[in-house]
Amino acid sequence: QVDPEMTLLTYLRRKLGLTGTKLGCAEGGCGACTVMLSRYQTDTNQLQHHAVNACLAPLCSLHLVAVTTVEGIGSVARKLHPVQERIALSHGSQCGFCTPGIVMSMYALLRNNPTPTMGDSQCFFLSGNLCRCTGYRPILEGYRTFTVVSGGRQNGCCLTNGSAAERTCPQGATPLFNAAEFKPFDPTQEVIFPPELMAL
Ligand code: FES
Ligand code: FES
Repeated sequence: QVDPEMTLLTYLRRKLGLTGTKLGCAEGGCGACTVMLSRYQTDTNQLQHHAVNACLAPLCSLHLVAVTTVEGIGSVARKLHPVQERIALSHGSQCGFCTPGIVMSMYALLRNNPTPTMGDSQCFFLSGNLCRCTGYRPILEGYRTFTVVSGGRQNGCCLTNGSAAERTCPQGATPLFNAAEFKPFDPTQEVIFPPELMAL
């Protein structure tokens, strides 16, 4: 008996009380409401993950779809997910209103590709998320810690790459974080797709 006009965002916030997913513009423009939708593709036997604006997604469109919200991947009370931790340590969040949406866009990208690069096509994942106070550089610095170059993880500028002896900045800047202290990102430890949605 679902109201055909009910959106996923309304359902999450009003019915389930999951207010981590934010209501910004309500018209698909800001990305504050981003969640991850996962669907099992029976023809290819593969899972597909998509970052989606919950304010535009009719609840009725989600048959056989698993919904992951920011509450589902980590919290301060339990344990932050590496995506949340690294955005925070990179100073990628100020007022925080956009942050759950940015976290979920980054998370969906990593679920599809755990070893992304900093290439333009990869950074396209953030094109649907607006941030009005932090700016995008610190957010991308957090993302950079998940990216790879030439087979190894890339952790940022001259302050975070190379050995300890090599880490100096010609401009006199100090490092934002010590990448060695990050929680590791292990894609095998992520929430699994509900098996009952595969069997249907
Ligand atoms: Fe702005 Fe959904 S609330 S895109
Ligand atoms: Fe304020 Fe992004 S941190 S809008």
